[in-house]
Amino acid sequence: MNTQTLLTGQTLTFNGDPFAQAWEDCVQINSRGAVLLEAGRIAAVGDADTLKARYPTARVVSYGTDLICPGFVDAHVHFPQTAMIASWGKQLIDWLNTYTFPEEARFADPAYAAQIAARYLDLTAENGTTTVASFATIHPTSVNALFEAAAARGQCVVAGKTCMDRNAPDNLRDTAQSAYDDSKALIARWHGKGRAQYAITPRFSPTSTPEQLSALGALWAEHPDCLMQTHLSEQPDEIEWVRSLYPDARDYLDTYEAHGLLGARGLYGHCVHLTAREVDRLAEVQGRVIHCPTSNAFIGSGMLNLPALAARGIPLGLATDTGGGSSFSMLRTMAAAYEAAQHHGHALHAAQLLWLATAGSARALHLDQDIGSLKAGNYGDITVLDLKSTAAIAQRANRSGSVWEDVFATVMMGDDRAVRATWIAGARVHG
Ligand code: GUN
Ligand code: ZN
Repeated sequence: MNTQTLLTGQTLTFNGDPFAQAWEDCVQINSRGAVLLEAGRIAAVGDADTLKARYPTARVVSYGTDLICPGFVDAHVHFPQTAMIASWGKQLIDWLNTYTFPEEARFADPAYAAQIAARYLDLTAENGTTTVASFATIHPTSVNALFEAAAARGQCVVAGKTCMDRNAPDNLRDTAQSAYDDSKALIARWHGKGRAQYAITPRFSPTSTPEQLSALGALWAEHPDCLMQTHLSEQPDEIEWVRSLYPDARDYLDTYEAHGLLGARGLYGHCVHLTAREVDRLAEVQGRVIHCPTSNAFIGSGMLNLPALAARGIPLGLATDTGGGSSFSMLRTMAAAYEAAQHHGHALHAAQLLWLATAGSARALHLDQDIGSLKAGNYGDITVLDLKSTAAIAQRANRSGSVWEDVFATVMMGDDRAVRATWIAGARVHG
């Protein structure tokens, strides 16, 4: 049996952080490149002719002038919100109460959780996403549903039981103790099993008592190799609410730090309205800021000044925030990130946007040794982009003089139609 597969096309590779150095020095496109897959991993990356000669028995899958990229890494999502994406007319707190909590209550039913987990991973695969970091619901079975669906696909997923012990409906509340116990049991069952990674998941400070935040801080101290994911400074009303609930805290970030929930393995979603102190502190501890630009526009949170945070050396990830975000597509999300930065007078390059959606998010999740770039040893998680996927994009590409202009047109105007194929652990799962 032939166990080697050679994907040929234009390959996108990284050897640096395009927010820390000139993008030209750290992002390359090889117009006649190839990626060799073997035993679920990337075995080699190089020139197509060289690799064809070196591995003459490999099965060749030719993608012509399509762009072979690392699979997209979506660093903050809520898979349980799949079925209520694009819910009309509310901002954060009303949106949670009106649409989100009733939908999340349905995940008490394990069959429904399994159905949505499978649907979600199918939709994201169609959009070229190969890893997500997801909030589940308060129900441990919702975590099992996502990890089981991911394991069946050979997929790396980060997930955690969402913890809430106040300011949520009765049927969506746990306690400080049960949140600790259930999360600990899920860590034992899933963390590091196959490609599963557990993230301790307090939803956000308003829906946890200080006792619950403390319990989860203690749990993180016992399992420091786990990630921790939450929300931070998304909307002004929310920030005011946090101030009233935690009168002794210096600011929103301090509500996490005071309870042991600040660190480099912490993933802080949104961060649209940070104070100078919060930015300083995140930079100091290398806490991860996860940018959710379609969500920030859709729920009315605002336009994050991402380049300003990058300039402070804060590690950044990019995310759809499904279903507060209005799309499952990381291409749509890159476009929204471009627009948010333009709002602050910065033009992000397509190389920076693609890096954020792949290697940047992988680094934010501390998974860059395994995913996020085309390099030997990483998992064979790959997205292949058709750079002429619609008539509108094709006519723009026909006018262009450079591959980066073509790539930018697809970043700005592309969606799932641009995703020619998605590979996970060396196997094609879409296209
Ligand atoms: N803050 C707390 N929970 C949520 C959520 O589900 N979505 C978003 N966008 N923000 C939140
Ligand atoms: Zn979120």
